[in-house]
Amino acid sequence: MRLFGRIILFVVMLTISHDEAYRILGIFPLRTKSHFLMCEQLMKGLAKRGHVVDVVSPFPMKTPFPNYNQIINLEGSVIGLHNNLTYDFALSNLLDKAIIPVIATTYGNDLCDLMALPEFQKIIKNQEDSPYDLVIVELFGANCYAALGQHFKVPVVGVVTSAVWPWVNDVVANPDNPAYIPHTFSGLDVRMNFWQRFQNALTLLKVKFEYWYYSDKQNEQIKKYIGNHAPSLDEAMRNVSLLLVNSHYSLNGVRPITMAVVEVGGLHIADTPDPLPNDVQQWLDDSKDGFVYISFGSMVKIESYPTKSLNALYASLAKLAPVRVLMRISKPNELPPGLPSNVMTRPWISQFAVLRHKNIKVFVTHGGLMGTQEAIYCGVPMIGVPLFGDQMQNIEFYAEKKIAVSLDHKNLTEENLDAAFSTVLNDPTYLKTAKRLSEEFRDRPMTAMETATFWVEYVVRYGGTNLKSPAMELTWWQTELFDVYGALLLAASLAVHLLIVVISKLSAIVLRTEKRSVPRSKKTK
Ligand SMILES: *[C@@H]1O[C@H](CO)[C@@H](O)[C@H](O)[C@H]1NC(C)=O
Ligand SMILES: *[C@@H]1O[C@H](CO)[C@@H](O)[C@H](O)[C@H]1NC(C)=O
Ligand SMILES: *[C@@H]1O[C@H](CO)[C@@H](O)[C@H](O)[C@H]1NC(C)=O
Repeated sequence: MRLFGRIILFVVMLTISHDEAYRILGIFPLRTKSHFLMCEQLMKGLAKRGHVVDVVSPFPMKTPFPNYNQIINLEGSVIGLHNNLTYDFALSNLLDKAIIPVIATTYGNDLCDLMALPEFQKIIKNQEDSPYDLVIVELFGANCYAALGQHFKVPVVGVVTSAVWPWVNDVVANPDNPAYIPHTFSGLDVRMNFWQRFQNALTLLKVKFEYWYYSDKQNEQIKKYIGNHAPSLDEAMRNVSLLLVNSHYSLNGVRPITMAVVEVGGLHIADTPDPLPNDVQQWLDDSKDGFVYISFGSMVKIESYPTKSLNALYASLAKLAPVRVLMRISKPNELPPGLPSNVMTRPWISQFAVLRHKNIKVFVTHGGLMGTQEAIYCGVPMIGVPLFGDQMQNIEFYAEKKIAVSLDHKNLTEENLDAAFSTVLNDPTYLKTAKRLSEEFRDRPMTAMETATFWVEYVVRYGGTNLKSPAMELTWWQTELFDVYGALLLAASLAVHLLIVVISKLSAIVLRTEKRSVPRSKKTK
C-alpha cells in the first residue's frame, strides 16, 4: 500500500513538472516549403508537449492542431518559391556568385518589411504585458526577427534548416575551421587537399562578408518597425540562446560544436507519413521489379529543364522497364511529349511514404536536404542532380560515402543517366552503404524531436545565457590567439636582438683585449 502511495506521488510529481506550459511565438516568413517543414514540425512537437504556440508563416493551416495557432497568415504578402522556380531562373539567379545577395535581400531584407503589416505591428506593440516566454525564429536571410527577443525580454531560439550557415556560426562563436569543415556553399567534402582548403577558406570569408554587406538594411528596419531601443542586427543575432540545426555527424562529418548549437538532423521526418492515394499505393505494391522515384523538390520545376535533358531522361527511363518510375511533377502537361509508358506522374505525393515503400530502388533527387535525409532515414540510394544552394554540398557528401551518384545538370545525357542507373541498381555497395548509414543516422540516445523540445524548454528554464561560449566576448584575433603569437614573436625577436647585442659587445671586448694584449706580449719579449 505504501509502495502504491509512492507510485501515485511519483506520477503526480511527474505531471506537475510537465505541466509547465509556455507561450511561444514562432516567426517563419520564408515561403519555402522545405524550410518551413522543419519549423512546423518543431512547433507541432512543442504544442504536443502542452505549450501554446503562436505561429506567423505564409503557409495556411490545412487542419487544426491542438495548442497551435496561426496568428498571421503571410500567404498573400510574400512571393512563393513553391513550384515556382524554373531551371533558367535558377541558373541565372541562384548559382554560386549570386546566391548570397539573394538570400540577404529577397529572402532577407524584403521579408523584414513584413513587420510593417498592421497585424504584425499589433504583436510588436503588445510589449507591456509580455505575452510570450520564448521567441523562435528561422535564422537564414531575414534575421531581423531575432531582435524581438530583447524587445519582449525573453530568450530566442534559432532554427537552422541546414548545417549552420557561415554567417550564423560567428554569432554563437561556433568553430568553423575551413581546414576540415567545408562551408555550406562550398560543394566540398571534409577531406580537402591544399587547393580545396584554399578555396574553402577564401570563399568562407567572401560568403560572410557578402551576407553582412547586403543585409545592412536590416539594422534600419529593426529600429523602424520595433523601435529605437531595439538592438542592431549583429546584437540581435548574438542574443540567440540556442540553435537547432538540421545536421548530424553521420552525414555532415565530425566537427567541434559549442553548447549553444544542438544537432537535430532529420527533425522534420514525421513518425507516421500521410497515406498514399489508393491508385499510387496499388501501382507501387504491384511493381514487382522495383521502382525509381524522381522528385526535384518543392521549388524547381522538372518540366522547365531543357528539352534535350528531358528527352535523354525519357530514353534512359524507358530502358529501365519493367522497373517502374514514379515522378513528382507539379505540371505534367508542360512536359514535352513522349513520356515512356513505365512512368507515372503525380503533382503531389507523401514523399516519406514513397521512400519507405519496400519496392523502391533509387531516389533521383536535386539534392535538397529534407528529401535526401528522408531517403537516408529509409536507406534508399540516390542519384543526385544538384543545382544550387547547399545541394552540391549534400550530394558531394553522399557521393563520397557511396550512397549516391552525382550527375552534372549541364550534362544530362542519355549515356550519363544510363551509367548512373546502372551503377546504383547493379552495384550492391550503394544499397548496403545506404542501409548502414540509415542505422547510424537513426541510432541516437533521444530522437531529434525529444532533443529539440528538451533544449527549448531548458532555454526557457534557465534564460539561455548559460550556454554561451566565452569566445563570444573575444575578437577574432583574440580567438585565433594572434595577440599571443604576436607577443611571442615580439619576445623572441627581442631575445634574438638582445643576443646579437650581447654577442657583438662581447666580441668587441674580446677584440679590444686582444689588441691590447698584442703590444703587451711584444713588451714582454
Ligand atoms: C512566382 O515567381 C514570380 C517571379 O519569379 C512572382 O512574380 C510570382 O508572384 C510568384 N508566384 C507566387 C504564387 O508567388
Ligand atoms: C540579450 O541582450 C541583452 C542586452 O544586451 C542582455 O541583457 C541579455 O542578457 C541578452 N540575452 C541573452 C539570452 O543573451
Ligand atoms: C559530360 O559527360 C561525359 C561523360 O561522363 C564527359 O566525358 C564529358 O566531359 C562531360 N562534359 C562536360 C562538359 O562536363
